[in-house]
Amino acid sequence: MDKTFLELAKSRYSARKYENKPVSSDKLSAILEAGRVAPTAANKQPCVFLVLNDEESIAKLSNACTPHGAPLAIVVCAEKDTAWVRPFDKSNMSEIDSTIACDHMMLCAHDLGLSSCWITYFNPCVVRKEFNIPDSFIPVNILVIGYSAGEPQSPGRHSQTRKPLDSIVKYSSF
Ligand SMILES: Cc1cc2nc3c(=O)[nH]c(=O)nc-3n(C[C@H](O)[C@H](O)[C@H](O)COP(=O)(O)O)c2cc1C
Repeated sequence: MDKTFLELAKSRYSARKYENKPVSSDKLSAILEAGRVAPTAANKQPCVFLVLNDEESIAKLSNACTPHGAPLAIVVCAEKDTAWVRPFDKSNMSEIDSTIACDHMMLCAHDLGLSSCWITYFNPCVVRKEFNIPDSFIPVNILVIGYSAGEPQSPGRHSQTRKPLDSIVKYSSF
């Protein structure tokens, strides 16, 4: 039986150990499509998805972060100059757009039976240099994806690992 959205969201967890098994091109295509259709502010679509799915690229990525042995990584990059900017405070939406795309891809990967780990603890200068990212783009998020080799986390763990709803939701007034 297909999972409901909440079942899908609750069964996802960050995997930090992967099997030595590649992700098929069909699954990669579906993940990228999930990123492509993600909403962006004013539909500006400032993101580019840099796919790293060969050993040499993953080895280069290891100079910038810990890819946890995953066979696939997607570096979500954004072009700041093409993103929508809120006129009131000049807030640039490129990082929000990149983060929504990354989240779509993370959940799609999980829906396809894959695991992932979202990585922002990376050296952006090294990523930029290793993969020839132009100055006009910023590498915002890295999603490593593969088949988890570790213990799956329980979908029920959020009662302990997340704040209770009544402490984070306010009605009518903060
Ligand atoms: C924006 C963001 C950045 C993250 N950066 C890292 C990271 O650099 N390294 C890492 O191991 N996990 C990283 N994570 C994973 C979080 O630590 C993890 O999602 C959180 O502890 C909750 O655990 P869960 O994903 O297993 O539910 C990141 C997650 C998010 C959403």
